[in-house]
Amino acid sequence: MNFLVIGSGAREHIMARRLSDVGVKIFSILTNRNPGLLNLSEEYLFLRSYHNNIRITVDFALSKGIDCAVIGPEDPLALGYSDALMKKGIPVVGPIRQLAQIETSKGFTRDLLTKNNINVSPKYQRFDRIDGAEDFISLLSDEYVVKYDGLMGGKGVRVSGEHLRNKKEGIQYCNELLSKGGSFIIEEKLLGEEFSLMSFCDGNNVRHMPAVQDHKRAYEGDEGPNTGGMGSYTNSNHSLPFLTDEDVREARDINEQVSRSLKDEFGEGYRGILYGGFMVTGNGVKLIEYNARFGDPEAINLLTLLDNDFASVCMDIVGGTLEEVNFRKEASVCKYIVPLGYGSDPSKEATLIVDDKHKDYSDLYYAAVNLEEGGSISTTSSRAAAIISTGEDIEEAEKRCELGLKYISGNDLFVRHDIGKANLIEKRVRNMESIR
Ligand code: AMP
Ligand code: GLY
Repeated sequence: MNFLVIGSGAREHIMARRLSDVGVKIFSILTNRNPGLLNLSEEYLFLRSYHNNIRITVDFALSKGIDCAVIGPEDPLALGYSDALMKKGIPVVGPIRQLAQIETSKGFTRDLLTKNNINVSPKYQRFDRIDGAEDFISLLSDEYVVKYDGLMGGKGVRVSGEHLRNKKEGIQYCNELLSKGGSFIIEEKLLGEEFSLMSFCDGNNVRHMPAVQDHKRAYEGDEGPNTGGMGSYTNSNHSLPFLTDEDVREARDINEQVSRSLKDEFGEGYRGILYGGFMVTGNGVKLIEYNARFGDPEAINLLTLLDNDFASVCMDIVGGTLEEVNFRKEASVCKYIVPLGYGSDPSKEATLIVDDKHKDYSDLYYAAVNLEEGGSISTTSSRAAAIISTGEDIEEAEKRCELGLKYISGNDLFVRHDIGKANLIEKRVRNMESIR
């Protein structure tokens, strides 16, 4: 079978790896010269950007006899790559544009939940002008979050007391978003611990993956600006140390309800990965956001642990025949290697050197890097590579991940070493104990 993989980060590198492991031929749509994807692909099409390149992508897919396309990132989903490929008869893992609104419009998602009595949102209000914003912030007792109502690579959210020091800064940020032509949401700031729960959806059936925790903040101790994600871990019991069984059940149930609500809303089922970003609070599980795709880095943990053949899971998603999906009962820890300053002012001097000896302990997936003539790897302003290890428990997986990292070198690189370490996990467990 021939699969088209759209996207050129570590998430797409592991998708391609898992597909090629079962003998599938990989064709890629790349926006950077990812060495891992170049190596796995029979052929590829290089795009400068996803904008205005749907036609050339569809033509490429048709000329290569693609049996199934898998879309990694949000931009092609937002632009309607799924719609265009499906119109030409190519099945796609990844929702059509209308259904991808679950990610592309935070306002749409909040309203969908309200309309369907899925009561897991914080208090919120949508704005397309500044009128009323200050009053709403006061109503929330200055404990609020401002969100751009569109795609901003995980970087459009600012939280009071963290990124916004006072009301004036909050209003300033709202005005900044309006001046860029955008609308925004203000919502109540939730207190608790975040986790992701992703589900495979085939339009009717929903099959859940283990819970996973990403680390969005750029620096150790969860400080600094929000990023696309610095690393993530899963536990061998498929829950997380600070979650109860009931929390996991609630999150699964919310994903199931949302999948049904989307079908009711549009008359067409959601086919792809539904990613719920949740916060467990003193009042149960609340929704932070939905994504219409695999999380990155979360996909790296989950596709490492997936027991099924990934190509068959994809064919079941597009065919509406999704049955049992199983994951190994092991823990996993993934850490991203990023250019120093990633998230605010990334170094332009960063270099990445990978010694294959890391394979004794870990697997490595390349992200936003470029293979240069001569074989060296240059970095960009985004994440460089993800390294992942598994183990009987989180501690063992984390130790192996750090051993693997010793074989990665270069200049101006940064890793959040605290991800998966006992200190940080205990802090979260204690935080949840005091909140509950
Ligand atoms: P999002 O892009 O919506 O996932 O938001 C990025 C990050 O902002 C989340 O991972 C949270 O850390 C934080 N955040 C978003 N919404 C809220 C909220 N209502 N309360 C507290 N933190 C939030
Ligand atoms: N890791 C967060 C995301 O993929 O949006």
